[in-house]
Amino acid sequence: MKHIDIKDIFSNPFYIGKTVTVCGWVRTSRDSKNISFLEINDGTTFRHLQIVIEKEKLSGYDEAMKLGTSVRIAGTCCESPVNGVEINAGFIEVLGACPGDYPLQKKRHTLEYLRTMPHLRVRTNTFNALLRVRSRLAAAIHEYFQSRGYVYVNTPIITGSDCEGAGEMFRVTTQDYDVTGLTREEYYAGDFFGRKAGLSVSGQLEGEVAAMAMGKIYTFGPSFRAENSNTPRHLAEFWHVEPEVAFAELPDIIEIAEDMIKHIISAVLEACPDEIAFFEKHFEEGLRDKLRSIVSHDFAVVEYTEAIELLQKADRQFNYPCDWGADLQTEHERYITEEVFKKPVFVINYPKDIKSFYMKQNPDGKTVAATDLLVPGVGEIIGCSEREADLDKLLEAMKARGMNLDDYEDYIELRKFGSVPHSGFGLGFERILMYVTGISNIRDVTLYPRTVGGIR
Ligand code: 4AD
Repeated sequence: MKHIDIKDIFSNPFYIGKTVTVCGWVRTSRDSKNISFLEINDGTTFRHLQIVIEKEKLSGYDEAMKLGTSVRIAGTCCESPVNGVEINAGFIEVLGACPGDYPLQKKRHTLEYLRTMPHLRVRTNTFNALLRVRSRLAAAIHEYFQSRGYVYVNTPIITGSDCEGAGEMFRVTTQDYDVTGLTREEYYAGDFFGRKAGLSVSGQLEGEVAAMAMGKIYTFGPSFRAENSNTPRHLAEFWHVEPEVAFAELPDIIEIAEDMIKHIISAVLEACPDEIAFFEKHFEEGLRDKLRSIVSHDFAVVEYTEAIELLQKADRQFNYPCDWGADLQTEHERYITEEVFKKPVFVINYPKDIKSFYMKQNPDGKTVAATDLLVPGVGEIIGCSEREADLDKLLEAMKARGMNLDDYEDYIELRKFGSVPHSGFGLGFERILMYVTGISNIRDVTLYPRTVGGIR
């Protein structure tokens, strides 16, 4: 008989009183004198389905009592005061036995321990909830942009230019490691693309190309960073949402970013109440109220200069200096968002020297029209700016940074042929997931984290 998703068993009263077949992995088992109980999960819902086994009706199911065993069970679907519905088993087939050295025997394991077994941690409640929220959040991002007329574009993953002009790129090569006797130029010339290539740190530059024809675009794909940042907030491979909007200035893109964050959080609150309740219980007290409050309140906006003044006035010692011109460190970002504003904050108009070449230079000659969105508990989740649309100013900023203009020929030409004001941002998908779930280490919000010294 065709099996039915456990999600449907819970949500469709049609099955009550009927004989159904369900499949799944055994998550708990318990034995009493006349009855045994199993709870199984098939991944279609956060909830486990209770299976009631009357011993006088069924025998030979000992293997099915072992945690991790995969089973197919047929039985009568009954209403249950505690569980909503349960299955009174008439038939149990073990699809795959699971011996006693299956590591997930305890009810709760530490996240650190689970990281040592990415192929099995997906079977925990935490990952069951996480992957569902992750999937819903991704769908909500597409919904948000699609329903507002944005075109989804796929920018290249292998690139010849480093978008930020500074960030460390992973090299892409088919060369043998032996480079004896070759100059750097000769070495790259002999490589697959005939020049140096790497994994993209951001789809922005190509996203701008698309926006200069399609008006409103977004990308949603992987970005790669080779920085040696071994922190709970950095991955070497992360998913990046990057809208780019023609004719939009900094205040416009800030409005879009805030609206999008509110939309996707609302979508998760609506679609994943059980998962959010789980995260609230195990990871962050008050999570649901925090998320509800995000949706119904304005985010704060503060000038970088004012943020520096707030830090200098703070009644605490920071590890890093906070003079005007310095980049904000995590400790500064967290103080501003967690202790001063206690909500998400857009810090705007950063000093131009600490930001990227493509950001629009403000008339003060000192700052650029850029913003980072900081949120309590995580810090920066969005990097955003109006782009420099003036050819001469762009060239000046690139030359000041010693950049090789030949690598950016296409990008530069966008300013020559029909340039328009435009803006965009990059949202780190795993960072927003940390915020939405309360999980504090980025390694625990992705299936297979890639970090310095860690790949599996
Ligand atoms: O601030 P970033 O570096 O901005 C850019 O890449 C721009 N080109 C985006 C744009 O304007 N289209 O990165 C944007 C966001 C960060 O705010 C952060 O959320 C995330 O990407 N991010 C990372 N997430 C995980 N691990 C890392 N190593 C990350 N680096 C950036």
